[in-house]
Amino acid sequence: MAPFNLKMVVSIAMVASMVFGSSAIQHTVGDASGWVIPDNPNLYADWTSNKIFTVGDSLVFNFPNGTHDVTKVSKDDYVHCHVSNRGSTVRSSPAIFNLNRPGSHFYICSVEGHCAFHQKLAIHVVGG
Ligand SMILES: *[C@@H]1O[C@H](CO)[C@@H](O)[C@H](O)[C@H]1NC(C)=O
Repeated sequence: MAPFNLKMVVSIAMVASMVFGSSAIQHTVGDASGWVIPDNPNLYADWTSNKIFTVGDSLVFNFPNGTHDVTKVSKDDYVHCHVSNRGSTVRSSPAIFNLNRPGSHFYICSVEGHCAFHQKLAIHVVGG
């Protein structure tokens, strides 16, 4: 009886960890569209709308090297497509950003004109 119960406990624990476990998710920005100047101005807003971003997750931006970059910016820079901090620009694809902190996070392509044409992403990250 005891080995059977132990097996039960172990399998229940495994199922519970699959259901409730906080395994990190890699979110591929724009899914198959990747990180582009979108034809649809709402592409990235639509992409975020059915997702939950949790501390520990990461964003993966895919683009052909040399065409775009990913620059993490302030909300104000996101709104105005301005870059006041060059430190966070990643030019190599895939560009991976770990979501280490809860709150709002903003990303743009800093190549001239791209952000103005809606290559920009705003997400809200919840605590893990
Ligand atoms: C971009 O360049 C990096 C560094 O050379 C390389 O590892 C990566 O595979 C390249 N990405 C693409 C999408 O070609």
